[in-house]
Amino acid sequence: MSSDNYTHIHTEPSGVQRADVWRMFDRIAPTYDLVNRLLSFGLDIRWRKTVATHMPKERDMVLLDLATGTGDQVISLVKSGRFNEAVGMDMSAGMLEKGREKVLQLGLSDTISMLDGDATSMPLEDSRFDAVTISFGIRNVVHVDKALAEMCRVLKPGGRAIILEFSLPKSAIVRAGHLFYLRHILPLVGGLVSGDRDAYRYLNTTIEAFPYGQAFCDLMTTAGFSSATAHRLTFGIATIYVGVR
Ligand SMILES: C[S@@+](CC[C@H](N)C(=O)[O-])C[C@H]1O[C@@H](n2cnc3c(N)ncnc32)[C@H](O)[C@@H]1O
Repeated sequence: MSSDNYTHIHTEPSGVQRADVWRMFDRIAPTYDLVNRLLSFGLDIRWRKTVATHMPKERDMVLLDLATGTGDQVISLVKSGRFNEAVGMDMSAGMLEKGREKVLQLGLSDTISMLDGDATSMPLEDSRFDAVTISFGIRNVVHVDKALAEMCRVLKPGGRAIILEFSLPKSAIVRAGHLFYLRHILPLVGGLVSGDRDAYRYLNTTIEAFPYGQAFCDLMTTAGFSSATAHRLTFGIATIYVGVR
């Protein structure tokens, strides 16, 4: 599937409507963190920390974390101590509620605000942020091209968008094993723990269909980034993309 096609898909084989995908996250919000840890064997925690290594080197930066969900990425970055203000934004009230609880419990409410908002049309002024992140979120946004253009708009000149997303390994053997995991283990375990098998079948089909590597870098430069680079993680099952405005 070409990356251009992907930005216009509205229905997935699992029957979940892409236009309503954030509603699906309302349903799985209560078990989302647990399923994440189980399905990634804790790798997601390490990958989120790696996002920090691609940040600009200044201190006291302002961060926007899109599709923030239950807040794991924004919390991990704020704990690194380099941000004095952070906004987490998501369309799912259920995910945001979980995120707000965590932010409060960790005593980070003075630094992190969790806002309801759409990544493709943000109520935020131009050139406000030093960095914008979106972890395991861009794949779920209906109009990927619009979200990338919005990320560019709200970044300061020279600011960075750092995007963590699933991808597929290059090695044929690792790829075959990973596809087996995505098609059979992930929907089974995700479905059993969350009680929502459709949601986890949706996740695996979107991982297989989403553009990655150079194809995704091309989407970023088309959206307005002056450069975009891909950094593969763990045999390429996830990738961090860094775009400079
Ligand atoms: C897989 S979760 C990722 C959550 C979090 N970033 C993480 O790392 O765990 C994807 C999130 O994208 C959100 N989402 C989907 N489309 C969105 C949009 N257009 N704008 C904002 N959030 C969106 C969903 O509500 C969901 O919380």
